Amino acid sequence: MEQNKDINQLDIPLAKRIHLDNSNSILLKKLLIFSPVLILLFSIFGLRLIRSTEIVSLRNFNFQAQINHGHRILGHLPYAEIPKEKLVLVEPNIEVHRDMLDSLLRMREEAKKDGIYLVFLSGYRSINLQNEIFYTLKSVRNQEAAERARVSAPPGYSEHSTGFAIDIGDATQRGTDFEVEFENTDAFKWLTKNAAKFHFKLSFNKDNKYIDYEPWHWRYEGSIEALKVFESSNRKL
Ligand code: DAL
Ligand code: ZN
Repeated sequence: MEQNKDINQLDIPLAKRIHLDNSNSILLKKLLIFSPVLILLFSIFGLRLIRSTEIVSLRNFNFQAQINHGHRILGHLPYAEIPKEKLVLVEPNIEVHRDMLDSLLRMREEAKKDGIYLVFLSGYRSINLQNEIFYTLKSVRNQEAAERARVSAPPGYSEHSTGFAIDIGDATQRGTDFEVEFENTDAFKWLTKNAAKFHFKLSFNKDNKYIDYEPWHWRYEGSIEALKVFESSNRKL
């Protein structure tokens, strides 16, 4: 009898445990049944989160692009002046950014092998010199700012101040220096075909609404620093 009592006392907690186990397995079954729905809900939520993050960064990018566009003056983007220690001589009176020296010299050598003689006309220009070129010539030629800006960047807005721009002529046809007729020279034809191999790009083509076509003006895009400098310019606004 004493033994039966013990068994009965044990019986109740055991029954409870069995009941608990059953409820756990029901919960598990429910989870298993609903798991595809839960996975679907989480996926939709996750995708929405990724999409909204992308939209925010795209908005930020467009905003940045608009700011840069807003910073243009008469169609020219602002450019900082290169620190002096990054300048190297390519000709006795022409300095360029040290990043582009090798590429520029190699391009001239390769052209020579094809019987083409490139001549460098202008490289780095300080903001002070650009100031002279813009305002003094504007005054001498009695030009309005918008008219002057078609051929010359305002100070602080010239690619030449970055050291990454180079004006190139044809050594056999010096009469075409800084003239649109340079496009008819063998030098220009050679550059059109080969400049990209050396990471040079024509800056002001015939499509530019604000700045006149300059077949002689090339810029270097063969280093990360150069790409950063010209990032805004390479974006279609
Ligand atoms: N001639 C180009 C636009 C400059 O002055 O930088
Ligand atoms: Zn130029």
